[in-house]
Amino acid sequence: DTNQQNLLKQAVAQAALAHLPKGGVIGVGTGSTVNFLIDLLPQLKLAGAVASSKATEDRLKAVGIEVVELNQVGSLDVYIDGADEIDRHLHMIKGGGGALTREKIVASVAKRFICIADESKWVEQLGRAFPLPIEVIPMARSAVGRKLVTLGGSPAYRQGFVTDNGNLILDVHNLNILNAIALESELNDIAGVVCNGLFAKQGADLALLAGPNGVREVSR
Ligand code: A5P
Repeated sequence: DTNQQNLLKQAVAQAALAHLPKGGVIGVGTGSTVNFLIDLLPQLKLAGAVASSKATEDRLKAVGIEVVELNQVGSLDVYIDGADEIDRHLHMIKGGGGALTREKIVASVAKRFICIADESKWVEQLGRAFPLPIEVIPMARSAVGRKLVTLGGSPAYRQGFVTDNGNLILDVHNLNILNAIALESELNDIAGVVCNGLFAKQGADLALLAGPNGVREVSR
């Protein structure tokens, strides 16, 4: 990351604070943008946070925030996370960091999804520049890979990477994602797929996007 990009990530993290509850429990995503937010979270005097990854759990604890098990909370008012790509429907590609499954689970119990990103993540069409990550049960790797090829994708095995759930990631290039909602379901139907990085059926409710002229808000 360039220094300029880090400044934008920091700016959007700062802007996000105004959209988060004070003293409550929130769901926290994973990645470099969220890491800037975590450093600021102590100001909110949260009762706790649900973490979307081991990495986020460790960072939350390091700044003194109590990490709550998802099984211990009913619903969350807010889930906040970054994205690898986001479009005008506030559909996203996530999972560049490999945390997509837990991210999607925590997001699923939240009333609102707030996406924080720098403008470089805003795209016309998902998946053209960034390959779609898919978490796969290890023994199904080749079988799932062949199915993805029949869908027009070019899956690449993320070498040496194991998810927090003990599975692997296929990064799928060349998908022509015209209907993200339909594709999200279609990919989930492949046996051996644990989760895919399309967040369309549950997209963001609010996107905060940092650019050189400030932070822009896009809401649904
Ligand atoms: C993690 O698995 C991803 O879904 C992240 O949300 C995504 O990679 C964004 O990360 P950055 O904030 O580091 O770009």
